[in-house]
Amino acid sequence: MSIQSQVAYSTERANRYIAENKGIVNPLYRNRYHASPPVGWMNDPNGFVQYQGAYHLFYQFHPYDAKWGPMHWGHMKSTDLIHWEDLPVALAPDQAYDRFGCFSGSAIERDGKLYLLYTGVTEADEEGVHHQVQCLAVSEDGLHFDKVQQNPVIPIAALPEDASQIDFRDPKVFEHEGMYYTVIASKASDETGQILLYQSEDLVEWEFASVFLKGTKEQGIMWECPDFFQLDGKDCLIFSPMQWPQDGDDYQNLNSSVLAVGEVDWTTKQFQPASYQELDHGLDYYAPQSLEDDKGRRICIGWMQMWGRDFPTDTLGHGWTGSMTIPRELKWVDGQLKQYPIGIEAKLVQQGENSRIITLEDAKETIPGIEGDCGLLTLKVDTSELDNLNIYLRENENERTVVSFNKEKNELGIDRSTSGIELKGEEATPPVSRKVTLAGDRDYLELAIYLDHSSVEVFERNGEAVMTANVYPTEEATGISFECSGKAVFEEATFTPFV
Ligand code: FRU
Repeated sequence: MSIQSQVAYSTERANRYIAENKGIVNPLYRNRYHASPPVGWMNDPNGFVQYQGAYHLFYQFHPYDAKWGPMHWGHMKSTDLIHWEDLPVALAPDQAYDRFGCFSGSAIERDGKLYLLYTGVTEADEEGVHHQVQCLAVSEDGLHFDKVQQNPVIPIAALPEDASQIDFRDPKVFEHEGMYYTVIASKASDETGQILLYQSEDLVEWEFASVFLKGTKEQGIMWECPDFFQLDGKDCLIFSPMQWPQDGDDYQNLNSSVLAVGEVDWTTKQFQPASYQELDHGLDYYAPQSLEDDKGRRICIGWMQMWGRDFPTDTLGHGWTGSMTIPRELKWVDGQLKQYPIGIEAKLVQQGENSRIITLEDAKETIPGIEGDCGLLTLKVDTSELDNLNIYLRENENERTVVSFNKEKNELGIDRSTSGIELKGEEATPPVSRKVTLAGDRDYLELAIYLDHSSVEVFERNGEAVMTANVYPTEEATGISFECSGKAVFEEATFTPFV
């Protein structure tokens, strides 16, 4: 018998545990403006939604350990997408149909009520198999959720012929022309990923609609966490493929997050992809989920971690693991996807006039006033006479994280090989650095680099390229310096601390 079926989980028990144990968390690597669990483990964002005037973020949560375990849904809300208020746990694995875990899912408002559609991983059957089914919970106040008696609302009997019963998860619900739909991750018998589409008039009774998109052998073994939406007239499908093969500088992590752009044929209900692109060229970004808010913004938030590698806050006994990225607004500008970091600017305190034109030529320098481990570094650099620029972040005597720009190759890079704690994992050699070739020449480099206590997020030219990585310096590391070959003319260099 598994441990899961011996222990009676409930939201009450989880809430009590959190209240009594959140004091055990070690603050050293806690991020200050990224959503993190009060104690215990966090993975995927779930049920990201605006409801009754606030942004609600649910997440995969194991309160009792800093490791993944029986999944609950943690819950927090925010009005500015930066300060998050913890709310009571929304779901616990307390029913036969979700006893092995309340896995990822999404939220939607209907007639003033908030509905959560999530994956229940069932108790083991006679053969010891845990099935994945889709379940519904509803709330009238956005705080307390009741699982509906019709659960599971999408049982395994509703699967099409060629679909695994144990890899069927992560429903993302949306409305299209008066009908509710959900995309769900699935695996076909040839070990490829596919996305299934179901439809419903009332969120309770669902019927199979189509195989929305089927992957090929070259596209990974399972596509987790699908999300479908229209953005600026384009049909967009985001998903998180496991083991999408490396392709040049792209898809270097074990698992990736991909945006497919294409068109849905609503007669056959199939998605016809025209292109695929990786969403983040860093080392830690997975399972993103989006919402559309009342300002019409498509906002996406991802888990700022990667499966299959060490989680130092767990191995060091810090009592917590996992943060979300800064929420990013997605837009198409001149045919390019841009991911604008949102929310934080308003919370930063401008520290006087620390922006002026500075020229560096074949030198390594610090810039007075530019220092810190939590805040925003903004740079505008004329690169017309530059060869290479290295930006050293989180620097101390022995450690630094490097963001680099190579003019000739038009390449932006991030390197955490000297950041601090070395991360090992399932990969023979987990990547420690990544690069991305920017589209179009850069005589002018614009970077917004967000630092938090264990994270670095690099946005190039308003998020045309994004690179995210966790870093764990072993000693205080607040230094920032610049080294260039050739000439770098800083027209703006500002560090704005988060206070
Ligand atoms: C993705 C994922 C989902 C699943 C959840 C379990 O990170 O594996 O497919 O629902 O995490 O915690």
